[in-house]
Amino acid sequence: MRSIRFATVAVATAALTLPLMAGTATADPSAGRKAAPHPHAKFDRLRAAAPEGFVVGTAVAGGGHHLEQDYPDPFTHDREYRKVLARQFSSVSPENQMKWDYIHPERDRYDFGQADAIVEFAERNKQVVRGHTLLWHSQNPAWLEEGDFSKAELRAILREHITTVVGRYAGRIQQWDVANEIFDDQGNLRTQDNIWIRELGPGIVADAFRWAHKADPKAKLFFNDYNVEGVNAKSDAYYALVQDLLEEGVPVDGFSVQGHLSTRYGFPGDLEDNLRRFDALGLETAVTELDVRMDLPESGVPTEAQEQKQADYYQRTLEACLAVDGCNSFTIWGFTDKYSWVPVFFEGEGFANVMTEDYVRKPAFYALRDTLKEAREEDCGKKDHGKGRKG
Ligand code: XIL
Repeated sequence: MRSIRFATVAVATAALTLPLMAGTATADPSAGRKAAPHPHAKFDRLRAAAPEGFVVGTAVAGGGHHLEQDYPDPFTHDREYRKVLARQFSSVSPENQMKWDYIHPERDRYDFGQADAIVEFAERNKQVVRGHTLLWHSQNPAWLEEGDFSKAELRAILREHITTVVGRYAGRIQQWDVANEIFDDQGNLRTQDNIWIRELGPGIVADAFRWAHKADPKAKLFFNDYNVEGVNAKSDAYYALVQDLLEEGVPVDGFSVQGHLSTRYGFPGDLEDNLRRFDALGLETAVTELDVRMDLPESGVPTEAQEQKQADYYQRTLEACLAVDGCNSFTIWGFTDKYSWVPVFFEGEGFANVMTEDYVRKPAFYALRDTLKEAREEDCGKKDHGKGRKG
């Protein structure tokens, strides 16, 4: 188990003026040439900077809101995107490609093409995969939501879906978001908009975990939600539910916070405390969808202070996860603003990712890299010490 203490890492203010490192992207597209290789290029990769056993992930863009944009599928068509995806990250999460509406478009038809491609890409690049998601109120196909099925049929449909999808990738998925966003912000179960809970009652959640576990005993099974970074009514509801389920022997392995943050609001300073209380229940924890959006000035260009604030939010989220032993998976919801879901879903907000639309690294990127590096060095120091070698 990792156990890390931190010295606060100063956010790299010089970040924007540094040249881009080898092979990631053209620093300045107008320059029309690649930046020179940097002597320490290896540690310029987030995945290499991370402590052993700690994975740094990203969503893999495709499906969902991308289908309505005027660019081709990012994952299959954007070479530069794929290059950064492979070089920088040790974990990938299909952004939409394993959701019901994508992978199960008709009752008797699954479409595994994109999900297969992502899992294969991950294996080629020595990355782990987070499966997302199996029981959710959103992005369900019309055939399901409007199907007028009996309770018995619905139960059989969910069971078959979980068995089929989890079974297909058995042994190849590190963590599954089995249940996504099942509580509202007041901590009430979504008994209206979640078709499964509405039609089958709350017990269906435990069944989903049992079926997923049967289909892939090795995958770690998670609850995942937004607005649960801090200790609040919603995270309290998960804390209570998880204890009940563990007592009943339901195979729940983890609790994850999405981390869709906005600089409009204060940073959830009790994130670490919150992760710790789930850790104390014996669960793994994870950050699964971090992005930090902001209100953009009319020019569309954020101020330096805004960029620093964003970097600070990214850094503090990472530090909270690194500080908790069982938090070993840290995922950002995309890395380039080029494909961000934020401007589509949050009017007036944007600039939420760690690279610009041209793949230029922001202070937030360097804040993550430096924080990872520091944690890694501290881990190595401890190991060396344990072996009786001089630090
Ligand atoms: C978002 C995707 O990024 C978009 O492409 C899609 O149109 C809508 O969903 N919580 C989740 C994610 O669990 O699946 C959501 O992803 C963002 C919020």
